[in-house]
Amino acid sequence: MSGPEGSDGSGGAWTWWTAGRLAILGFAGVLMVLAIVLIILAAADREPEGSGERQDALAGSSNVCVECHRTTTPGIVDQYGHSTMAAANVSCQDCHEVAPDHPGAVEHADTWVLASPTTAMCEQCHPAETRQYLASRHGIPAYVAMVGTEALSGDLLEMYQSIPEAAPNPNEERNALFALEGPDITRFACEACHNIGRPAADGSVGECQQCHLRHEFSLEQARKPETCNACHIGPDHPQWEIYQESPHGIAYATGGETWNWGVEPGRATVVDFPAATCAICHMSGFGAAGTTHDVGDRLTWYLFAPVSELRPNADDNRVQMQTVCLECHNENFVDDFYADADAATVAVNDWVLESRQIMQPLRDGGLLTAEPFDDPIDFVSFELWHHWGRTAKFGAWMQGPDYTQWHGAYEVLSDLAELEAMVAERLEAVENPGN
Ligand code: HEC
Ligand code: HEC
Ligand code: HEC
Ligand code: HEC
Ligand code: HEC
Ligand code: HEC
Ligand code: HEC
Ligand code: HEC
Repeated sequence: MSGPEGSDGSGGAWTWWTAGRLAILGFAGVLMVLAIVLIILAAADREPEGSGERQDALAGSSNVCVECHRTTTPGIVDQYGHSTMAAANVSCQDCHEVAPDHPGAVEHADTWVLASPTTAMCEQCHPAETRQYLASRHGIPAYVAMVGTEALSGDLLEMYQSIPEAAPNPNEERNALFALEGPDITRFACEACHNIGRPAADGSVGECQQCHLRHEFSLEQARKPETCNACHIGPDHPQWEIYQESPHGIAYATGGETWNWGVEPGRATVVDFPAATCAICHMSGFGAAGTTHDVGDRLTWYLFAPVSELRPNADDNRVQMQTVCLECHNENFVDDFYADADAATVAVNDWVLESRQIMQPLRDGGLLTAEPFDDPIDFVSFELWHHWGRTAKFGAWMQGPDYTQWHGAYEVLSDLAELEAMVAERLEAVENPGN
């Protein structure tokens, strides 16, 4: 009895429900097709220009290292397969395989390899880049900055002394900090950055892979400012933070994905990079400026020093940096900017000299402890120039007003006032021991 009726009724409901469901399914289907199309479009979009470069050059390789490592460390083989070097037939052996007596060699797969290829390996095929790098403060001076010169062997000391820009000598206070903190800490601290100039067992110096991350060795990656920010960051050298605040950094953050990161070295122009990056200003071939791996080549001042002095090749270096600026700015703009930034540098120098004068009576009176970093006043006088003085200078030169002002000049003034109060208190305590 209720059968037909029920069946009728439920039939009506069924039809309505099915139609609704079909409509939903249809809609979902359209959405899915759309999504697939979008994913394909996005993937095509991500494929860089000249996508031939991105093909796996090791796809059909019968190289013994490749064949076995395809299962042992597939990531490494895949990354290397997509590099320019693999496409140019540079093999795993070219970087890793060495003679059995090569310092640091480990016996492996019927031959001898280096677990971490040194600059001596890269130098065989890239002598110019290696020579420039070793003549810069990214070479042995970066290592000396931590450990001082006493730890160097004869050859390394000679290498250090042959670098004109190695002077001024490292500040003893900071080497003291390295010793004070000890190896359990410094392995993860100073060394993680300063190993860019570490000597290897075979006597060669430096680690190219700090900027050229293996195993893609991609130009795009080396050129991006994030690569430099691994080390050029923090209160004492906030180049990364300053860059982010600068007009150049803002142009990068808001449009950098459209820039031509893979352009052939030495060929880049303002068409490829409408604004500057760390690498453009300090390293890249750009318009009339040639590529360099000597990051000191374009610098006028020793800005990291407590009191900045001009570099040995200041005039030439200035012309080289300005050649880069002039690709995008006019001559008056650049000349005016340099005159103003020179003046800011001298003004910070004057404050640091003033801080030394404030401290002088304590030195004269033998009222400072012999050890660095065991007295609060050591920290204030150190931070005054090491953090804030330097930051003010870097901010001025690289267009970071907040760093020049609130993380720089303001903090210097605050520390000058604090130092004066601390010194007065100590002198008072000596003159009136009863108080
Ligand atoms: C028969 C397989 C096989 C072959 C052939 C082979 N490897 Fe390996 N390799 C391995 C394995 C397994 C490891 C250890 C991986 C691990 O620890 O995860 C290794 C480790 C390494 C390491 C790291 C060594 C270390 O001490 O940290 C390097 C570098 C290396 N191989 C390079 C090469 C090179 C270059 C070749 C060609 C000359 C090669 N391998 C050939 C299997 C192989
Ligand atoms: C252009 C030079 C170069 C080439 C070519 C090269 N490597 Fe390396 N490889 C390096 C460098 C540099 C390191 C050390 C990285 C480090 O210490 O941070 C390294 C490290 C390694 C390691 C140890 C690191 C780890 O994470 O396990 C293995 C394994 C390795 N390479 C295998 C290979 C294989 C296999 C090939 C060929 C497919 C190859 N490499 C080609 C430069 C190279
Ligand atoms: C056996 C010779 C050889 C060795 C060893 C070698 N390279 Fe290369 N490298 C080449 C060749 C060839 C090219 C490709 C040049 C080209 O096509 O423009 C190249 C290109 C490069 C490039 C540019 C990549 C690009 O996309 O244009 C970088 C960066 C590089 N090598 C870094 C290194 C580093 C770092 C080492 C040592 C760890 C090293 N190379 C060791 C031969 C070598
Ligand atoms: C985050 C990375 C990083 C860490 C950690 C680090 N440094 Fe540095 N250090 C740098 C950079 C980058 C510079 C270059 C600043 C400049 O030129 O403006 C520098 C500059 C220096 C200088 C001045 C240059 C010179 O050769 O005189 C000294 C000295 C120094 N560091 C010592 C140390 C010591 C000692 C430690 C550990 C207590 C340490 N650094 C920790 C990155 C680092
Ligand atoms: C692994 C850490 C590390 C990376 C990555 C790194 N640097 Fe440095 N850089 C240092 C250290 C350490 C110093 C200071 C060496 C010294 O003066 O003792 C330094 C110094 C410099 C200097 C000053 C040189 C001088 O003569 O005073 C410049 C400029 C510079 N780096 C630019 C760059 C650029 C541009 C990049 C990225 C393309 C970069 N660095 C990536 C660690 C690094
Ligand atoms: C501080 C970061 C940094 C370090 C360290 C570094 N490179 Fe580079 N390298 C770069 C940048 C950035 C470029 C791209 C230059 C350009 O845009 O013109 C580059 C480009 C190259 C090229 C391609 C140059 C050309 O003209 O074809 C080679 C080859 C190379 N580097 C090798 C090396 C070798 C070898 C070492 C170690 C001895 C090394 N690099 C260390 C940042 C670095
Ligand atoms: C618009 C160009 C430009 C850009 C972009 C730029 N710099 Fe600089 N940089 C300069 C100039 C100019 C100086 C000061 C040069 C002098 O001493 O005359 C400088 C100074 C430095 C110094 C100080 C060297 C010393 O004497 O202590 C370091 C280190 C440095 N830059 C690293 C970087 C890093 C890392 C980036 C990116 C995060 C960067 N720069 C971005 C132009 C630039
Ligand atoms: C690749 C092109 C390029 C290079 C190279 C370059 N700049 Fe710039 N710069 C720009 C752009 C783009 C702006 C943003 C212009 C604006 O604010 O309208 C800018 C802005 C500036 C500003 C801020 C101007 C203002 O009115 O606020 C200063 C200062 C500056 N650059 C200095 C330099 C110096 C110094 C150099 C060389 C060390 C340099 N630039 C290299 C493209 C470049």
